[in-house]
Amino acid sequence: MFTGNGEALMSVVLVLGYTTLGILALCAVNLVYKTLQSRSRHDISGQWVVVTGCDSGIGQGVVTALSKRGAKVVACCYTENGASAARAAGASWAPHFDLSDDAAVRDVAEKIQTQSHGALWCVVHGAGTVLPGFVDYQPINFYREVMAVNFFAPVLLTQKLLSALRRAKGRVVLVSSVDGIVSLPGNAPYDASKFAIEAYADALRVELSFCGVGVSVINPATMRTPMADSFFPAHRKTWDAMAAAEPEGDWQTLWPESWLNQYVEKNAQQLRSIAEDPAAAVNDIVHAVTAVHPKLRYLSGRLAKTLFYALWLMPESWSLRFKRLTVQPRPPRSRT
Ligand SMILES: NC(=O)c1ccc[n+]([C@@H]2O[C@H](COP(=O)([O-])OP(=O)(O)OC[C@H]3O[C@@H](n4cnc5c(N)ncnc54)[C@H](OP(=O)(O)O)[C@@H]3O)[C@@H](O)[C@H]2O)c1
Repeated sequence: MFTGNGEALMSVVLVLGYTTLGILALCAVNLVYKTLQSRSRHDISGQWVVVTGCDSGIGQGVVTALSKRGAKVVACCYTENGASAARAAGASWAPHFDLSDDAAVRDVAEKIQTQSHGALWCVVHGAGTVLPGFVDYQPINFYREVMAVNFFAPVLLTQKLLSALRRAKGRVVLVSSVDGIVSLPGNAPYDASKFAIEAYADALRVELSFCGVGVSVINPATMRTPMADSFFPAHRKTWDAMAAAEPEGDWQTLWPESWLNQYVEKNAQQLRSIAEDPAAAVNDIVHAVTAVHPKLRYLSGRLAKTLFYALWLMPESWSLRFKRLTVQPRPPRSRT
């Protein structure tokens, strides 16, 4: 039936076919195994869990979800009102303080060690702040403010809770952002703080790997929370701060106030239309806290798993082109 060449070709086709089927079968087995594995959870009732950023948004959702599972939640809030709401949501203790105040962080960490009798299951670093604006009009102290809350506070709080985490063989959950893997224009201080926390998480994970403490990172895309709602209007705060600091600066020629108003209005509407349900991030954080086999990284939300994942992996020259075409406005005065 087949000539010598035809038989050889048929053998190659059969080998390739069986190899492909074998690989597909292994992938399917791996998928089923991973799915089953991800479903097994620890019973965290009675375990101490610290959560920061609980006044609103994702942190508030995490307090409710973990309290329902019986965890003893220390809900770190910024305001008195936030603390009352966290207690109503089931938190065992809700201190309110400024995370950028090192002394306050040390004081709360010491009290947590005492309350938890030195055995802490998890700390979830959910607090975050954002001060958007293009680099021409970003005051330098805005970079410091953002780094203080998004980077230095989690670093200090983790360090002060490490002995209790080691004792419980617990875990650290750091809420980064898609901006921690893909830097976006108009948000440089926040991007830098989230890239910094990613680098810290990588180092921390290896350093703690010998004492059974796990480290997971959460990368939410835009979620419907007060942070996202206020994102574009907050450009005004940055612009005003620079106008007060450098009223005669060149930057105002490039980025005039008339442009700012239009930019904010148009983009605030667009952001609202793509913002996702924060439950996606809350569920991923709860998984990171409770799963027997938590993931190292959770891309939370549809856009994180698709667009941002692709931007993260693609060559930099492609992502630069994409960002220039979609999110970076050309300074209005540079258009000729
Ligand atoms: N929403 C998004 O689109 C999105 C996307 C990616 C990543 N994230 C990250 O997700 C985390 C939660 O954000 P969210 O969306 O839930 O926003 P959010 O509702 O604004 O929550 C941020 C929390 O951090 C608190 N906070 C800010 N500065 C603080 C300070 N100096 N001391 C103590 N607490 C402070 C806020 O308190 P007040 O409310 O009292 O100011 C608030 O409770 C953040 O780390 C954020 O970067 C959010």
